[in-house]
Amino acid sequence: MTTLALISGDLTTAAADVLVVATAPAGGRKKSAVLVGPAAGLKAAPKRRLEEALAALSATGKHGEVVRVPGTGISAAPLVLAVGLGAAPWTDESLRRAAGEAARALVGNRRAVLALPVETASALDAVAQGALLGAYSYDHYRVDSKAKHKSPVGRVSLHVADVKDAETLAALARGRTIAAAVNLARDLVNTPSADLVPSDFAAQAGLAIEGLPVALEVLDEEALAEGGYGGILAVGRGSANPPRLVRLAYRPEGATAHLAVVGKGITFDTGGISIKPSGGMHEMKGDMGGAATALSTIVAAARLGLPVNVTSYLCLAENMPSGGAQKPGDVFTSYSGTTVEVLDTDAEGRLVLCDGLARAQEDKPDVLVDVATLTGAQGIALGARTVGIMGNDDDLNEAVHDAAERAGETMWPMPLPEELRANLDSQVADIANIALVGRRDGGMLSASVFLREFVSDGQRWAHLDIASPSYNGHRAYGYTPRGGTGVAVRTLVQLAEDLADGAL
Ligand code: BES
Ligand code: MN
Ligand code: ZN
Repeated sequence: MTTLALISGDLTTAAADVLVVATAPAGGRKKSAVLVGPAAGLKAAPKRRLEEALAALSATGKHGEVVRVPGTGISAAPLVLAVGLGAAPWTDESLRRAAGEAARALVGNRRAVLALPVETASALDAVAQGALLGAYSYDHYRVDSKAKHKSPVGRVSLHVADVKDAETLAALARGRTIAAAVNLARDLVNTPSADLVPSDFAAQAGLAIEGLPVALEVLDEEALAEGGYGGILAVGRGSANPPRLVRLAYRPEGATAHLAVVGKGITFDTGGISIKPSGGMHEMKGDMGGAATALSTIVAAARLGLPVNVTSYLCLAENMPSGGAQKPGDVFTSYSGTTVEVLDTDAEGRLVLCDGLARAQEDKPDVLVDVATLTGAQGIALGARTVGIMGNDDDLNEAVHDAAERAGETMWPMPLPEELRANLDSQVADIANIALVGRRDGGMLSASVFLREFVSDGQRWAHLDIASPSYNGHRAYGYTPRGGTGVAVRTLVQLAEDLADGAL
């Protein structure tokens, strides 16, 4: 595990294995890189040496560039790493990415100093996050191959003006807390489903809130049956590992606003009887990414002591085919009383969420958000990195969009077209879980239209479809590793802070 520290003063004498400096394009007609941030203030001799080395290596200072230079004659550290920031002005997010890029390049090293142009508390927060998020690695299951995979950097000292400044220390603490919450969500997504069945997930939730003022309630299959949670039970029926509904409540003294977060927690999605093709199916171990986000959000809110009530609901089930599994054409009665015809057992996320949404509204939240790896159509519409925002209140959609932007996450508001509702009419029940007519039309929106049926008038609600952004099946970039990304945690923590500020 990577730890963070603060450091100030002379960069060239800092005891470290690697000194990370920042560069930017020189501008004008020159294609070369210039030093920016603390390294711009190096003494003349080491500065000239470093600039000459960067020029000889054709460094450009473009965003994402990483250039390695021997530290001889420049610093006490034997290696200098120059990360490009691109042209100024640098946003918190561009600094977060550069810190992540640096942390990934630092793998295998013990101690590093990271000297980026950190002018504000929020920039330091972002750099702290970027370093810890970029250093993330998941190697719980490596034994023989462990030696071949270098360990993350041991300690990163962030260069700041004043290591004792109260605002600086608070920003560092916030950055650490948020990064730890995001990394918790990543761990859960990356865990093989055999080791994270619904009861395991509930146990992990218990571990995650240890020592925090968060109350935990777990409904097992018996309690779910007694309570009438028909959707969660229907999806869980096919599995030897029964479903769970976990409710977590954070109620700080004096808080008035209330945020509810409902997470889709399918610990593995085979599709059920409407089984998926086998290619890439292993990624469905991550189909509980929404529940992981809901858990991490409340953990971060409690650890930060945010003055806002937060309740998280984790709708946990394993979607399996078996002799006991639900079948296409089956009908269940959801927690709200609405009957649902299941035309496709692979559209299971909305079935557990409809129970979770109905349950959450009994707690009367001001804002209700659900997070789910809900549809393949999300990736078709918005790609691998942009989360879809849908909901019943344009102002809330915009508030979530704005929170995402400030948190450095990419999300985009999408419509809920009225005409899609009729496609969900069922021959036998109140509603069908997929559209047989116009099956491929607006799949992400159609799923949201289904969810909206379970949200009462006047209840402000937003739905985040994180299907593709939750799991990076491609190469690592910035502070985002392969596998689980922990997307939406930062946005929801920001939203909780906004609620606490009375901004919503
Ligand atoms: N878990 C999937 C959605 C998904 C796909 C998440 C790819 C991450 C990556 C969801 O349960 C599902 O299977 N959705 C179906 C819905 C369809 C049957 C209407 C889909 O998108 O194909
Ligand atoms: Mn599915
Ligand atoms: Zn699913």
